[in-house]
Parts: sequence; C-alpha cells; structure tokens
Amino acid sequence: MGATLMTTMAASGVTAKPGSTKKTPFGKTPDGEAVDLYTLTNKSGVEAAITNYGGSVVSLKVPDRDGKLGDVVLGFDSVDGYVNNTSYLGALIGRYGNRIGHAEFKLDGKTYTLAKNNGENTLHGGTKGFNKAVWTAKEIPAKDGQALELTYLSKDGEEGFPGNLHVRVIYTLTDENALKIDYFATTDKDTVVNLTNHSYFNLAGPASGDILGHIMMIEADKFTPVDSGLIPTGELRDVAGTPFDFRKPTEVGARINSDDEQIKLGGGYDHNFVLRRKPGEAVSLAARVTEPKTGRVMEVWTTQPGVQFYTGNFLDGSLHGKSGISYTKRSAFCLETQHFPDSPNKPKFPSTELKPGERYHTTTIYKFSTEK
Ligand code: BGC
Repeated sequence: MGATLMTTMAASGVTAKPGSTKKTPFGKTPDGEAVDLYTLTNKSGVEAAITNYGGSVVSLKVPDRDGKLGDVVLGFDSVDGYVNNTSYLGALIGRYGNRIGHAEFKLDGKTYTLAKNNGENTLHGGTKGFNKAVWTAKEIPAKDGQALELTYLSKDGEEGFPGNLHVRVIYTLTDENALKIDYFATTDKDTVVNLTNHSYFNLAGPASGDILGHIMMIEADKFTPVDSGLIPTGELRDVAGTPFDFRKPTEVGARINSDDEQIKLGGGYDHNFVLRRKPGEAVSLAARVTEPKTGRVMEVWTTQPGVQFYTGNFLDGSLHGKSGISYTKRSAFCLETQHFPDSPNKPKFPSTELKPGERYHTTTIYKFSTEK
C-alpha cells in the first residue's frame, strides 16, 4: 500500500502520523526557489526529515534504550543554513565524493579540469556540488516503509565533469528503523561518478558534546593513507598495529590524539577505509557504532568498496545548527560510504568510470537499534 502524501501549507510543527509522509515549506533559495521538507514517519514513529535542497537529511529521530526518540544528526532549521553550509551537513554529495587531486583527471586521453575548492584539490564535486542543487522530489510507494525519490540532472560540463548525468536517489525509512539510500545514475558520455551522503551523527544527540566516547567498529583490514592535502598516496596500508584498527570495537577517542603521522595529517580521523566485502553478499556490514549513555546502535551496510570515517575535525563551533546549537570540533562523525578518494587518478583503485548504457546503482543502509 502506498503512503499518502499530505501537502499542508501550515503544517510545520504538526506531528506526523505513523506510516506517513508530510511535506512542509522549508524556505527559499537565494534565487527565490521554494524548497520543502519531507518528514517520513515509520510505523513505530521513527522519523527522517529530508529537504530537496541538496537532498539533505535534516533530522533523524530514533529511540534510545528506554524507547525515547531523539535526533541523531546535525542540521539546520531552514534552507538558509544549508545555503551557507560549507560542511556538507546531511547532504547528498556528487558528482564526485571526497577529493580529486590537483583538481584534474584524465579520461579517454582527455584532461578534465575542475574547481580547486580545497587547497589545490577538488572536494565533494566542486564549487557547486549536488549538495547545493535543488532536487525534484516525489513521494513514491515502498513495501517496507516510507520512500522519497529525488532526481537531478547534472549537465554536461557542470563543474567540469563530462556527460549529462541523470541522478536518482531514493531514501527509504523502513519499518525496521533503517534509513536506506539507493543511488542511481546514467550518463550520455564517459564520466566518473562517486555519490554519497554526508550526514554527521552523534548518537547521544547533537547537543551532547563530542563523540569520542562512541564505540566504533569498522570492517576494514586496510585503509588508504593520505598526503598533506588528504589525497591518497595510492597505498593500501594494513590497519594492524595502527590507530586505524577498528576491527574490534574501540572508543573513537582512544587513539585520536596519538603520535601517528596519518592521524596528524587528518587532524584526527579523516580517512578512507577499504571495506572487507563478503563475496556473494548484496550489502555488507561496513561499520557498527554504539553509544554507551543512550544505548543507541547504528550499523552501516553498503555495496560500496570504501567508507570515509571523518571525526568532524574541521567543525570549530562557528556553525550554529538546529535550535542554535554550536557545532564544535568532533561533536559528530561521518561514515560516508564511497569509492576511494582520487580514484580517477589512481588506476589501481576500483574504477569510478561510468559509460553510456551502464547503470550506476549503489545502496547504503543506516540501521538503528539499541542495546542494554
Ligand atoms: C572530508 C573532510 C572534509 C569534510 C567536510 C569529508 O568527507 O574527508 O576532509 O572536511 O568532508 O567537508
């Protein structure tokens, strides 16, 4: 049974019915375009609010061990915060997630030049990435919960990338308390694609201080060390014996200030982990995070080969989010499932090329539960 879309003009603040989706105005972009907030509520009242500005996840309310719902992502109260946001809070990232070294790459013998929006490099798609686009939103039926489809046409040459790229992202809030994200794309010219979501999580809530007490497990035997511009060197390094070994659940803060070259380069964790994919599995477990005070648990499952574990090292308190909360250093973490940064310039990394006639499809699931 399809869910009903209730379009209400003055619906802000109205509590959504379980098993429904509600659309409310979220403000206007600087160009005067109106954008909306879609609040998906599953059968048990778990709620994901998503705006079609940048396809950003604005809030995500999940239960703690006592069943109390609480928001676990950073975000803003209206579109203005997202327009001015340089930290990609909650956003869909494209055309290429994370960095491309020296803001250029070669494809089919031709050099493509991109914007240098992060030192000498390109970060998260360039000056106006998919996080700053207004997406076309449509509520679609889902068997297992509430779903929102977002589409965007990234034109040939946009931010320097070749090919008209038709992108479709489906967010599904399942009745099993998971936020599932399906990413699809097709192109009419050879191009490179790496799509992800940049939600910043704090499982104790966005106003609860730093995330150093969260317990992290990452299913990775190797990571991709970086240079001073945070571009992978090309090496796949064993995590064994380094602060990057999260194969056994470990506190995020346990080794974050250690005297390690890679930790220093990242100012903490800001690295791509090479996921241990299980052959034959559609989606594999990438990470499991637990928060001892609230008992909240988040598992990340994905079809992707990598995940960027970023500990909010560049948050400096200058961003004020929902309810005026100041987002301070390490007050949230990201687990951005992805292909490895700078893959277009690293022939040994799994390829990010997409050709006409091929269909890009990846899936990532953020699954919530609790433990005692
Ligand atoms: C990058 C960080 C960056 C952050 C926000 C992460 O994906 O790896 O270096 O600061 O996004 O832009």
